[in-house]
Amino acid sequence: MTINVEEMAVFCKRKGIIYPSSEIYGGLSGFFDYGPYGSEIKRNVVNAWWKEWVRSREDIVGIDGSIIANPKIWKASGHVDGFSDLILETEDGKEQIRADHFLEEQLGGNFDGVTSDEVNKLLKKHNLTLKGKKFKECVSFNMMFTTNIGPKQGNIGYLRPETAQIIFADFKLIQENARLKLPFGIAQVGKAFRNEISPRNFIFRSREFEQLEIEYFIHPKQTKCPYIDEVKDFSMSVLSAEMQEKGEKAVSMSVKELLKKKILQEWHAYFLAKNIKWFLKLGCNPKNFRIRQHLKDELAHYSSDCWDIEYKFPFGFKELQGVADRSDYDLSKHIKHSGKDLSLFDEETKSKVVPHVVAEPSLGLDRAILVFLFEAYNDDKKRGNIVLNLHPKIAPLQVAILPLVKKLDDESRKIFEDLKEDFNCFFDNGGSIGRRYARMDEIGTPFCVTIDFESLEDKAVTVRDRETTKQERIKISELKTYLRNKL
Ligand code: GLY
Repeated sequence: MTINVEEMAVFCKRKGIIYPSSEIYGGLSGFFDYGPYGSEIKRNVVNAWWKEWVRSREDIVGIDGSIIANPKIWKASGHVDGFSDLILETEDGKEQIRADHFLEEQLGGNFDGVTSDEVNKLLKKHNLTLKGKKFKECVSFNMMFTTNIGPKQGNIGYLRPETAQIIFADFKLIQENARLKLPFGIAQVGKAFRNEISPRNFIFRSREFEQLEIEYFIHPKQTKCPYIDEVKDFSMSVLSAEMQEKGEKAVSMSVKELLKKKILQEWHAYFLAKNIKWFLKLGCNPKNFRIRQHLKDELAHYSSDCWDIEYKFPFGFKELQGVADRSDYDLSKHIKHSGKDLSLFDEETKSKVVPHVVAEPSLGLDRAILVFLFEAYNDDKKRGNIVLNLHPKIAPLQVAILPLVKKLDDESRKIFEDLKEDFNCFFDNGGSIGRRYARMDEIGTPFCVTIDFESLEDKAVTVRDRETTKQERIKISELKTYLRNKL
């Protein structure tokens, strides 16, 4: 990792990966647009995740719910009353800032879960101001975006702040339709919105973002995870709540050790390890990941325990994915508020049971993309250009077809037409070959295929590998198989 987050934002804009939203009107803080290459990366990451967690499994199914739902959902879930951050506003009303972030910057340490009274006392004690301006009393601010549903004014709706509630509200239908038996999971990928007081760090904390979430339901007595052997020998860097309280540093432990020492229970261990392994499979460095348990006062209103997978961003270790234990909090709330029976019949005890969400792996898609970009970015001084070493599964383009000169366009187009059936291809006949290679390196295209005059004679092309710059002469008739094996 060689650049900071601001430099990454500049690079992403220059290469058509991510733009600040509505830039011609001065932009809009906390909103971003994915450009031609960013939208391909995003699609590839979602597909890789969906394949891993939904298509490859018998115990997890997916849904695609609405962004605006009956507002009663958000009352029942506790978001109307409890989904808020503390805000500090300067006396002239010109500046607003999140209280915990402000205290963190000014005093150091972690202020998650701080109360408004505590904030007011700390402001006084340390005589804290912003650009010399004093603050009004600290107040709480609900982070849900509101909208008006239909023409009748006052018919308030909310843009969902998490995809999870749609899963809980549809729980019974999904379970019946997909004939799911405990333990099982329901996955969803989609947009969520939070009216963040101070969006920051490029796409790390934005107001509109995308989540990859799974709600994993178990019988409350099923403490054993049947998949635990898949991850038993996997080691992770670990920072439990107790270690944080004692001021200790993270240490690497295997899942076996974590279970033995009762630092993690099986389900949590499984989901944390399996999720980190997914990042490693896509080319990430294990050294940049750790798991950290939430301190009691950090827990969300619905959560009884939560571990985050944190990534070492240039601005420090920060949450990439939360894995919360939501117990029966949500289903019980919806049973109470809707009056509907959302329990399942347990054959073993011949009684009804409200399943528990033992783990809710909730991954920020934009954060995951930021991780892949930081991992891939390499300012290759020897080559004289940036190389984005993205895993071929998530690279925006897989193969570039480059005729050495325009005269070879017709021959090259035939190859392009054939390859594009199987790969995401790009045809580029503009500029020197060196410049074209560099352009492809910068957006992470794993292979460039060059057609030269000799190709007309020997019916072969030159294939250049992005990672090594090595070139191989491959017969056109064998090109598809060659690339398929490599990709
Ligand atoms: N569903 C968990 C979250 O949005 O953080």
